[in-house]
Amino acid sequence: MRKIHIFDTTLRDGEQSPGVNLNTREKVEIAHQLEKLGVDRMEAGFPAASPGDLAAVNAVARAVKNASVVGLSRSREADIDAVREALKGAADPCLHVFLATSPIHRKYKLKMEKHQVLEAAQSAIRYAKKYFSKIEFSLEDAGRTEADFRAEMVAMAIREGAYVVNIPDTVGYLNPEEYGAIFRHLKETVPGIEKVQLSAHCHDDLGMATANTLAAILNGADQIEGTINGIGERAGNTAIEEIAMALETRSDYFGAKTGLVLSEIARTSRLVSKLTGMNVPGNKAIVGANAFAHESGIHQDGMLKEKTTYEIMSPETVGFKESKLVLGKHSGRHAFREQLLELGYKLEEEQLNEAFAKFKDLADKKKEITDEDLLALLEERLPDAPEQYGLESLSFSFATEAAPKASVTVSVAGEGNRSAEAGGNGTVDSIYNAIDQAVGEEVTLVDYSIQAVTLGKDALGEVHVTMRQGETEVRGRGVSTDVLEASARAYIDALNRLAAERRLPGGRKGAEKVW
Ligand code: KIV
Ligand code: ZN
Repeated sequence: MRKIHIFDTTLRDGEQSPGVNLNTREKVEIAHQLEKLGVDRMEAGFPAASPGDLAAVNAVARAVKNASVVGLSRSREADIDAVREALKGAADPCLHVFLATSPIHRKYKLKMEKHQVLEAAQSAIRYAKKYFSKIEFSLEDAGRTEADFRAEMVAMAIREGAYVVNIPDTVGYLNPEEYGAIFRHLKETVPGIEKVQLSAHCHDDLGMATANTLAAILNGADQIEGTINGIGERAGNTAIEEIAMALETRSDYFGAKTGLVLSEIARTSRLVSKLTGMNVPGNKAIVGANAFAHESGIHQDGMLKEKTTYEIMSPETVGFKESKLVLGKHSGRHAFREQLLELGYKLEEEQLNEAFAKFKDLADKKKEITDEDLLALLEERLPDAPEQYGLESLSFSFATEAAPKASVTVSVAGEGNRSAEAGGNGTVDSIYNAIDQAVGEEVTLVDYSIQAVTLGKDALGEVHVTMRQGETEVRGRGVSTDVLEASARAYIDALNRLAAERRLPGGRKGAEKVW
């Protein structure tokens, strides 16, 4: 079996999803989970984008011990220096430097001729070689680059000492046959190709990212790049869990495997979904809520007789367990701690106290508490700094014949409490209008969604909102047994993310648009 290295870019390309703004603590939390999942490399961010991004990459670099931590850089010395700074303290640092090579990018974006692109990339790798023993070079938009120039660029990167050469289908334009043929051509024609690892990096604009990545593996790719849940720019990146399970389930066909701990897939997916605020669609392969559900009578009958009639992999393999009723009002701290350990959470004393208080609060409102409820409580936002706003109290009135009305009191850091009352087009709208008035912020609600965490009338409701202020878009999440309270909490969470963005010079993702 060939080993395929997994390069996770959830924290970089994944974070480029519109509205996703992970703070440093959230990045570190996801990085720890990626370590448990067993990724070989993880790209933590783009340090030159902003001081905030540099600091977040540095925090990940210092926290991760069992995977190589990668920082992204354009082919510029200042960017490379920013990655050097960001990766200080990393156990196994790696620089990822890129330059676009396609005719469209050369002409319109870079305004450079082929020889200038080659020289710029060459001098960037040469400069980087003084400081990094591991360098990955990416030919941005390699998929739409002329075959001979692509091969010339790859040969140059090998001569200059790159460790990995990445061939991205940046705009998700290719089909599997074409993408696979690129890898075959490079393997067959480029001198010294055996000295580097060739990497596949696909985007999903035409829904072919997974198929294209598998085609690259069949044609010699040593590494694949992707994100958890397939999040990323536009339609997203290759979903790592899909590649892992395709290689596992069809090892007879691919003859290749990853080093991933497959049973950590479900937990990683859930954590990424919660902290990014990006819901996983029910029908998403491997990690969707319906991925292992059997609805039709014929299928259920087959499953009862023999699981393999309709199941090509088991939910347990990727870490899904049957939802259990675990705790209730009378459960004590010890049982609570044990249950968290079972779910993979080892909390410090102070965190445990905080979580236990939240659990008791929930147990007063909800009779039976399941694993999903506990996870929903634990995966609440982890602020980097004290929050700007807090929901102190909320009340509303609703009647079928009367206009709804809401009153809120919001705590504002350094100022105390502010209250406001407002009406609106429905109760949620009234609550949001009242919060707007209390905080005095001008924002636009771009998206609102609500779902139940578990079954039953007393289920926890989980609300996700996307909010915009000027150029900045953020997502917020709120959880409560009351959906209106969850709505208010999601809104306040998004407002806090906006406030955190404003505190950082250039924002967390950077004011400079680099692509
Ligand atoms: O899609 C892409 O080309 C990228 C590069 C920066 C590798 O993300
Ligand atoms: Zn990309």
